[in-house]
Amino acid sequence: MEYALTATKNEARAGSYYDRIARFYDLTFKINGYGRSLDKYFENHPLPVSRGAKILDAGCGTGLLTLAMLRAIRFPVAITALDLSSTSLEAARKSLYYSPGRKRDVTFAQGNLLSLPFADDSLDLVITSGALEYVPLADGISEIARVIAPGGHLLHLPIHPSVAGTFLEIVFRFKSHPPKEVKDKTERHFRIVHQYRFPPPQVLGWSKTAILAQKV
Ligand SMILES: C[S@@+](CC[C@H](N)C(=O)[O-])C[C@H]1O[C@@H](n2cnc3c(N)ncnc32)[C@H](O)[C@@H]1O
Repeated sequence: MEYALTATKNEARAGSYYDRIARFYDLTFKINGYGRSLDKYFENHPLPVSRGAKILDAGCGTGLLTLAMLRAIRFPVAITALDLSSTSLEAARKSLYYSPGRKRDVTFAQGNLLSLPFADDSLDLVITSGALEYVPLADGISEIARVIAPGGHLLHLPIHPSVAGTFLEIVFRFKSHPPKEVKDKTERHFRIVHQYRFPPPQVLGWSKTAILAQKV
Protein backbone atom coordinates (compact mmCIF):
# COMPACT_ATOMS: atom_id res chain seq x y z
CA MET A 1 0.00 0.00 0.00
CA GLU A 2 1.40 3.43 -0.89
CA TYR A 3 0.36 6.08 1.58
CA ALA A 4 3.69 7.69 2.39
CA LEU A 5 4.06 11.36 1.50
CA THR A 6 7.80 10.87 1.33
CA ALA A 7 9.69 14.12 1.01
CA THR A 8 12.81 15.07 -0.89
CA LYS A 9 14.76 18.31 -0.53
CA ASN A 10 12.66 19.83 -3.31
CA GLU A 11 9.28 18.22 -2.95
CA ALA A 12 7.43 17.69 0.32
CA ARG A 13 3.74 16.94 -0.08
CA ALA A 14 3.28 16.31 3.65
CA GLY A 15 3.18 20.11 4.03
CA SER A 16 0.01 20.56 1.99
CA TYR A 17 -1.54 17.45 3.56
CA TYR A 18 -1.00 18.91 7.04
CA ASP A 19 -2.30 22.27 5.82
CA ARG A 20 -5.61 20.44 5.38
CA ILE A 21 -5.61 18.32 8.53
CA ALA A 22 -3.74 20.45 11.12
CA ARG A 23 -6.84 21.11 13.21
CA PHE A 24 -7.84 17.43 13.24
CA TYR A 25 -4.28 16.41 14.16
CA ASP A 26 -4.07 18.97 16.96
CA LEU A 27 -7.41 17.95 18.46
CA THR A 28 -6.68 14.19 18.23
CA PHE A 29 -3.34 14.53 19.98
CA LYS A 30 -4.69 16.90 22.62
CA ILE A 31 -7.46 14.41 23.45
CA ASN A 32 -5.16 11.37 23.60
CA GLY A 33 -2.99 12.79 26.39
CA TYR A 34 0.16 13.26 24.29
CA GLY A 35 1.13 16.44 26.20
CA ARG A 36 0.70 14.77 29.60
CA SER A 37 2.85 11.80 28.54
CA LEU A 38 5.55 14.19 27.36
CA ASP A 39 5.38 16.11 30.66
CA LYS A 40 5.92 12.86 32.61
CA TYR A 41 8.75 11.78 30.34
CA PHE A 42 10.54 15.15 30.69
CA GLU A 43 10.02 15.08 34.46
CA ASN A 44 11.84 11.74 34.69
CA HIS A 45 14.35 12.43 31.90
CA PRO A 46 15.40 16.09 32.07
CA LEU A 47 16.46 17.42 28.68
CA PRO A 48 20.27 17.59 28.32
CA VAL A 49 20.48 21.36 27.86
CA SER A 50 21.64 24.38 29.83
CA ARG A 51 20.70 28.06 29.90
CA GLY A 52 20.76 29.67 26.46
CA ALA A 53 20.77 26.31 24.62
CA LYS A 54 19.87 26.39 20.93
CA ILE A 55 17.12 23.86 20.26
CA LEU A 56 15.23 22.81 17.13
CA ASP A 57 11.86 21.04 17.03
CA ALA A 58 12.09 19.51 13.53
CA GLY A 59 8.60 19.00 12.10
CA CYS A 60 6.92 20.80 15.02
CA GLY A 61 3.40 20.50 13.59
CA THR A 62 0.91 22.28 15.83
CA GLY A 63 3.55 22.76 18.54
CA LEU A 64 2.59 20.07 21.07
CA LEU A 65 6.20 18.99 21.61
CA THR A 66 7.56 22.54 21.57
CA LEU A 67 5.10 23.54 24.29
CA ALA A 68 5.92 20.46 26.38
CA MET A 69 9.61 21.40 26.16
CA LEU A 70 8.83 24.94 27.25
CA ARG A 71 6.91 23.60 30.24
CA ALA A 72 9.84 21.33 31.17
CA ILE A 73 12.77 23.72 30.78
CA ARG A 74 12.94 26.17 33.66
CA PHE A 75 15.51 28.59 32.20
CA PRO A 76 15.70 30.68 29.02
CA VAL A 77 16.61 28.81 25.83
CA ALA A 78 16.23 29.54 22.12
CA ILE A 79 13.83 27.11 20.43
CA THR A 80 13.18 27.11 16.69
CA ALA A 81 9.98 25.28 15.80
CA LEU A 82 10.15 24.33 12.12
CA ASP A 83 7.56 22.71 9.87
CA LEU A 84 6.57 22.50 6.22
CA SER A 85 2.92 23.31 6.91
CA SER A 86 1.98 26.97 7.32
CA THR A 87 -1.43 26.01 8.79
CA SER A 88 0.26 23.85 11.44
CA LEU A 89 2.68 26.67 12.23
CA GLU A 90 -0.23 29.07 12.61
CA ALA A 91 -1.91 26.66 15.05
CA ALA A 92 1.38 26.33 16.95
CA ARG A 93 1.70 30.13 17.15
CA LYS A 94 -1.82 30.38 18.54
CA SER A 95 -1.23 27.63 21.13
CA LEU A 96 1.97 29.34 22.25
CA TYR A 97 0.13 32.64 22.60
CA TYR A 98 -2.42 31.05 24.95
CA SER A 99 0.09 29.00 26.93
CA PRO A 100 1.87 30.12 30.09
CA GLY A 101 5.65 30.34 29.96
CA ARG A 102 8.43 32.13 28.15
CA LYS A 103 6.91 32.79 24.73
CA ARG A 104 9.93 34.78 23.60
CA ASP A 105 12.05 31.60 23.71
CA VAL A 106 10.28 30.27 20.60
CA THR A 107 10.77 31.30 16.97
CA PHE A 108 8.80 29.68 14.15
CA ALA A 109 10.18 28.81 10.74
CA GLN A 110 8.65 27.24 7.66
CA GLY A 111 11.06 24.76 6.11
CA ASN A 112 12.02 21.24 5.17
CA LEU A 113 13.95 19.16 7.68
CA LEU A 114 15.94 17.71 4.78
CA SER A 115 17.44 21.14 4.18
CA LEU A 116 17.68 22.86 7.55
CA PRO A 117 18.40 26.60 7.69
CA PHE A 118 21.22 26.19 10.22
CA ALA A 119 25.02 26.12 10.01
CA ASP A 120 26.95 22.91 10.66
CA ASP A 121 27.46 22.09 14.37
CA SER A 122 25.30 25.03 15.52
CA LEU A 123 22.60 23.47 17.75
CA ASP A 124 22.65 21.87 21.21
CA LEU A 125 19.52 19.74 20.85
CA VAL A 126 17.21 18.64 18.06
CA ILE A 127 13.95 17.05 19.06
CA THR A 128 11.67 15.41 16.53
CA SER A 129 8.50 13.38 16.68
CA GLY A 130 6.39 12.04 13.83
CA ALA A 131 8.31 13.87 11.09
CA LEU A 132 11.21 11.57 10.14
CA GLU A 133 8.52 9.08 9.09
CA TYR A 134 7.88 11.39 6.11
CA VAL A 135 11.45 11.37 4.81
CA PRO A 136 14.09 8.83 3.81
CA LEU A 137 15.52 8.03 7.24
CA ALA A 138 19.24 8.22 6.38
CA ASP A 139 18.77 11.63 4.74
CA GLY A 140 16.72 13.01 7.64
CA ILE A 141 19.06 11.79 10.36
CA SER A 142 22.20 12.93 8.57
CA GLU A 143 20.77 16.42 7.95
CA ILE A 144 19.82 16.65 11.64
CA ALA A 145 23.28 15.37 12.66
CA ARG A 146 24.90 18.03 10.46
CA VAL A 147 23.41 20.89 12.49
CA ILE A 148 24.01 19.43 15.97
CA ALA A 149 27.29 20.42 17.66
CA PRO A 150 29.58 17.58 18.76
CA GLY A 151 28.41 16.52 22.22
CA GLY A 152 24.92 17.88 21.48
CA HIS A 153 21.85 15.66 21.48
CA LEU A 154 19.03 14.30 19.33
CA LEU A 155 15.78 13.28 21.00
CA HIS A 156 13.79 11.24 18.49
CA LEU A 157 10.32 9.83 19.20
CA PRO A 158 9.85 7.25 16.44
CA ILE A 159 6.76 5.15 15.82
CA HIS A 160 7.38 1.53 16.75
CA PRO A 161 5.61 -1.39 15.03
CA SER A 162 2.17 -1.89 16.61
CA VAL A 163 -1.51 -1.93 15.74
CA ALA A 164 -1.80 1.71 16.83
CA GLY A 165 1.26 2.59 14.73
CA THR A 166 -0.31 0.99 11.64
CA PHE A 167 -3.54 2.88 12.27
CA LEU A 168 -1.62 6.17 12.51
CA GLU A 169 0.31 5.32 9.34
CA ILE A 170 -2.93 5.01 7.41
CA VAL A 171 -4.62 8.07 8.88
CA PHE A 172 -1.61 10.37 8.66
CA ARG A 173 -0.12 8.80 5.50
CA PHE A 174 3.43 8.16 6.66
CA LYS A 175 5.71 5.15 6.63
CA SER A 176 7.33 4.21 9.91
CA HIS A 177 10.92 2.98 9.83
CA PRO A 178 11.83 -0.44 11.29
CA PRO A 179 13.41 -0.09 14.77
CA LYS A 180 16.65 -1.79 13.63
CA GLU A 181 17.00 0.73 10.81
CA VAL A 182 16.34 3.61 13.21
CA LYS A 183 19.04 2.29 15.55
CA ASP A 184 21.58 1.66 12.78
CA LYS A 185 21.07 5.01 11.06
CA THR A 186 21.20 6.83 14.39
CA GLU A 187 24.45 5.10 15.35
CA ARG A 188 26.11 6.35 12.16
CA HIS A 189 26.28 9.79 13.78
CA PHE A 190 25.35 9.37 17.43
CA ARG A 191 25.91 7.31 20.56
CA ILE A 192 22.55 6.14 21.93
CA VAL A 193 22.15 7.33 25.53
CA HIS A 194 18.81 5.70 26.22
CA GLN A 195 15.79 4.10 24.60
CA TYR A 196 12.50 4.46 26.38
CA ARG A 197 9.13 2.76 25.99
CA PHE A 198 6.23 4.92 27.14
CA PRO A 199 4.13 2.83 29.54
CA PRO A 200 1.17 1.15 27.80
CA PRO A 201 -1.52 2.83 29.98
CA GLN A 202 -0.44 6.06 28.26
CA VAL A 203 -1.86 6.25 24.74
CA LEU A 204 1.54 7.45 23.51
CA GLY A 205 2.94 4.10 24.66
CA TRP A 206 0.81 2.27 22.09
CA SER A 207 2.80 3.66 19.20
CA LYS A 208 5.91 5.57 20.28
CA THR A 209 9.32 5.19 21.85
CA ALA A 210 11.94 7.81 22.70
CA ILE A 211 15.59 7.60 21.72
CA LEU A 212 18.06 10.04 23.22
CA ALA A 213 21.37 10.11 21.38
CA GLN A 214 24.54 12.18 21.68
CA LYS A 215 26.50 13.32 18.64
CA VAL A 216 29.97 11.83 18.58
C1 LIG B 1 2.64 13.64 12.81
S1 LIG B 1 2.93 15.37 12.73
C2 LIG B 1 3.97 15.60 14.15
C3 LIG B 1 3.93 16.99 14.68
C4 LIG B 1 4.68 17.24 16.00
N1 LIG B 1 6.08 16.94 15.89
C5 LIG B 1 4.07 16.47 17.14
O1 LIG B 1 4.79 15.69 17.76
O2 LIG B 1 2.89 16.68 17.42
C6 LIG B 1 4.09 15.47 11.41
C7 LIG B 1 4.55 16.87 11.05
O3 LIG B 1 5.75 16.74 10.27
C8 LIG B 1 5.72 17.73 9.27
N2 LIG B 1 6.65 17.32 8.22
C9 LIG B 1 6.58 16.23 7.41
N3 LIG B 1 7.65 16.18 6.59
C10 LIG B 1 8.42 17.25 6.91
C11 LIG B 1 9.64 17.76 6.39
N4 LIG B 1 10.28 17.15 5.38
N5 LIG B 1 10.15 18.89 6.94
C12 LIG B 1 9.48 19.54 7.95
N6 LIG B 1 8.32 19.11 8.46
C13 LIG B 1 7.79 17.98 7.95
C14 LIG B 1 4.28 17.78 8.84
O4 LIG B 1 3.97 18.99 8.16
C15 LIG B 1 3.56 17.64 10.16
O5 LIG B 1 3.29 18.88 10.75
